[in-house]
Amino acid sequence: MSNQVKYVLQESEMPQQWYNIIPDLPAPPPPPLHPGTHQPVGPDDLSPLFPTALIMQEVSGDRHIAIPEPVLDVYRLWRPTPLYRARRLEENLGTPARIYYKYEGVSPAGSHKPNTAVPQAYYNAAEGVKKLTTETGAGQWGSSLAFACALFGIDLEVWMVRSSFDQKPYRKLLMETYGAKVHPSPSDVTSAGRAVLAAHPDSTGSLGIAISEAVEVAGSHADTRYSLGSVLNHVLMHQTIIGEEAIKQLAEAGDTPDVIVGCTGGGSNFGGLIFPFLREKMAGRINPVIRAVEPAACPSFTRGTYAYDFGDTAGFTPLLKMHTLGHEFIPDPIHAGGLRYHGMSPLLSHIYELGLIEAVAKPQSECFAAGLRFARTEGIVPAPEPTHAVAACIEEALRCKETGEEKVILTALCGHGLLDLQAYGDYLSGAMTDLELSEAAIEEAMRGLPAGV
Ligand SMILES: Cc1ncc(COP(=O)(O)O)c(C=O)c1O
Repeated sequence: MSNQVKYVLQESEMPQQWYNIIPDLPAPPPPPLHPGTHQPVGPDDLSPLFPTALIMQEVSGDRHIAIPEPVLDVYRLWRPTPLYRARRLEENLGTPARIYYKYEGVSPAGSHKPNTAVPQAYYNAAEGVKKLTTETGAGQWGSSLAFACALFGIDLEVWMVRSSFDQKPYRKLLMETYGAKVHPSPSDVTSAGRAVLAAHPDSTGSLGIAISEAVEVAGSHADTRYSLGSVLNHVLMHQTIIGEEAIKQLAEAGDTPDVIVGCTGGGSNFGGLIFPFLREKMAGRINPVIRAVEPAACPSFTRGTYAYDFGDTAGFTPLLKMHTLGHEFIPDPIHAGGLRYHGMSPLLSHIYELGLIEAVAKPQSECFAAGLRFARTEGIVPAPEPTHAVAACIEEALRCKETGEEKVILTALCGHGLLDLQAYGDYLSGAMTDLELSEAAIEEAMRGLPAGV
């Protein structure tokens, strides 16, 4: 019997194309709308914010898009990433299930985010953009884009959600090490930030507010563009390299997945892992259950409404049809800062509506208990976000223990938590709390949904 733990591809086996799932879906996702006219937005509406190449990818009907050579060159710094069989976790759980995790924490910034940061910086640089602005929750996205901007010679200004700015000082230092300028959000350098501070001087911030600040600055400077680390079609497409590699690696292991689980903030690591598998499922070649795991404190899939809403708090973005808690919703300052987004990728929301995936929500203490168990068996300390995926893996594996089923479970361990140890410290000292999210809080934020669309 094999005792192989790591399935490692050669650089020459790295996928050369990203996968665009849209042409393979039974129906296309509803388009983004202009907030004034309620008509679908065109490339001209988006060009103050994004370079042409990314706008074309956003609306592309091509099934595959070639990864440019300079991007492949940077990917080779850490890709292909390993697929692990979690043998020690399986043994610890006493489960007959076989658990695999695709580990993205080997990237320079420590998560899956460079998979899209690198092409985004590349396309912007190729079109002469001098500076990017962005938001960041936990700081994983901001540090990934800072790394990518350093490689392609672009300046970067980041608005980091206040609660994470305070909880994770080393991520700010990492961004500065790569050369970025970092503000806590809400900040006093934008009108969107000042408006929030005037109403709520102690605001812990949210991704929605930080996006407003970054969009405001990009939209008002001709040589500056905005970059988003999740949610949009092109971002999820860049992440499909995760799933394409995992398909090859699982084949090498001689397994096919019965259950695929992943954590969802805006949906990029989950989309990146599952889309290639969903292609195989829709073609009838495999039939896994595909499950998104979101925080109970920010449950856009499981308690949100499928509706057109703004992607940011101030209402600067186009209207996106997505599962949303309302763009004014401010989630509790849980440690998984990357999951504190009021909405969900419109593409994944559409796929959820089509019934192709399911979703569950988990409180953070269950997730940190799972993260600790993972660290103490597999050795890798998961970032707070993927502890949600690990908790769902463990739940499924324990179900298999009850039933005796030898299911194959696959997840993305999308980042390490070595700069999030304060969160583990809070859990270990008993200082971590799970606040109940009331229906009234959701209803109040939903009152801000744009009317008549
Ligand atoms: C490590 C990690 N995982 C997951 C997420 C959530 O984002 P997404 O749903 O786009 O993967 C983030 C976001 O910052 C993150 O840093």
